[in-house]
Amino acid sequence: MPTLGGLLKKRRTKDSQDLSKELQAGSTATGHTTTSPIAAEDSQHHGHHSGHHLFHHSHHPSNNSANTANSNNSHAAEHHQSNHSSAASNKPADGQTASMQSPAQQPSSTSAHSNSGHHGNAASIHNIINPSQQNTPQVSRTERTTKGKYTLDDFAIQRTLGTGSFGRVHLVQSKHNHRYYAIKVLKKAQVVKMKQIEHTNDERRMLNRVRHPFLVTLWGTWQDARNLYMVMDFVEGGELFSLLRKSQRFPNPVAKFYAAEVTLALEYLHSLNIIYRDLKPENLLLDRHGHLKITDFGFAKEVPDITWTLCGTPDYLAPEVVASKGYNKSVDWWSLGILIFEMLCGFTPFWDQGSPVKIYQNILAGRIKFPPYLHPDAVDLLSRLITSDLTKRLGNLHGGPDDIKNHPWFAEVTWDRLLRKEIDAPYVPPIRGGQGDASQYENYQEESEPYGQTGEDPHGHLFPDF
Ligand SMILES: Nc1ncnc2c1ncn2[C@@H]1O[C@H](COP(=O)(O)OP(=O)(O)O)[C@@H](O)[C@H]1O
Ligand SMILES: [Mg+2]
Repeated sequence: MPTLGGLLKKRRTKDSQDLSKELQAGSTATGHTTTSPIAAEDSQHHGHHSGHHLFHHSHHPSNNSANTANSNNSHAAEHHQSNHSSAASNKPADGQTASMQSPAQQPSSTSAHSNSGHHGNAASIHNIINPSQQNTPQVSRTERTTKGKYTLDDFAIQRTLGTGSFGRVHLVQSKHNHRYYAIKVLKKAQVVKMKQIEHTNDERRMLNRVRHPFLVTLWGTWQDARNLYMVMDFVEGGELFSLLRKSQRFPNPVAKFYAAEVTLALEYLHSLNIIYRDLKPENLLLDRHGHLKITDFGFAKEVPDITWTLCGTPDYLAPEVVASKGYNKSVDWWSLGILIFEMLCGFTPFWDQGSPVKIYQNILAGRIKFPPYLHPDAVDLLSRLITSDLTKRLGNLHGGPDDIKNHPWFAEVTWDRLLRKEIDAPYVPPIRGGQGDASQYENYQEESEPYGQTGEDPHGHLFPDF
């Protein structure tokens, strides 16, 4: 039997094809930097620190470096059911097409990793101007002042920060303001092969709509003949996944802090009718002060009522998703339960030797063993989140997310101060190298295929917003 420790160290990536196969094989599945990359350099704010402590438990993870070898031992399913139409899938992008701005600075030089000479549509860049007019109760929106276009020549591409199913995320430096950003590069051919066209367009559209202290900021996108590019803030503190694996499990107050920040982010997304659908520590990043930023909107989607798409990461899937039923936002509250369990225990409740089919069976059976070290309030909250009975699942009841925020486990959380980042994080990542220090991320083998290629572009028309 493989060791628990060995399997748990692997990052769980989405992989729709593998999951589809698994599902066929198994009988179970019936499954803060806020400066525009091209804006002139100006004053930069970091999260405000008032020095107030809510969580007194100081947390020191061990120094063992986590083995985060990227593996496909978990998967996501892509399983569109033809006779179900998802409510939001065919809507235009919120009535907003990204504005094309007048060309920005002419590139002065070509980055070592880029091919020069891309032009016209192949390298056309749609600028992201914060489009949403929607006001949310929580966060006042300010218009993003991104001006001009991006091209590969606006950035010097540096090391890989993470790899995903369809591409990788790079640390980059803006040649204009010299600040650091993260660029997610998706191979169009791969996206098409994995039937993720709609999800990828949604990823851009949803991320473009949102602005929240605990969500990563998208600055712009573009495409060339081969790839799609998404420019985000570089979140310096690394993945919560790495911290959790190094720490094995988090003390109650530490898990509570991260869970509370996630709760606010999900509440905000749901207020915009956006389901996130891929909550897990791999997608939760720490900023330099230790506050969370949720990244990876690869499965985020506007869903006012219900949807049917089978997607996510096995350990975190709600039973109604596994069972191919219609489902709603409350799948995110189920995943919050799984996340809290994983933070407190170091493993997920339905984990089963890395086999998705077994995990699905466990999810559908719904039996959870709560380790004796869990606080009774935590057990109570977890049993109310990780329940297949949708008439009982917290977050899905009349009180909405308030039922979660008012649960005794969160009793000492002052939610408005947490939202303003006035609560000090329990762990501050040791970022010593200043801006652009990527030491909190694992090292990855770099790829040799250069970005910025021109030529035949059979898939470009499928991604009109990029
Ligand atoms: N804004 C960012 N700053 C720093 N690292 C990031 C950022 N966004 C993503 N990453 C890293 O890249 C990894 C893969 O990105 P992600 O969007 O999750 O891709 P995938 O959809 O393939 O899972 C993340 O798990 C994280 O380690
Ligand atoms: Mg991810």
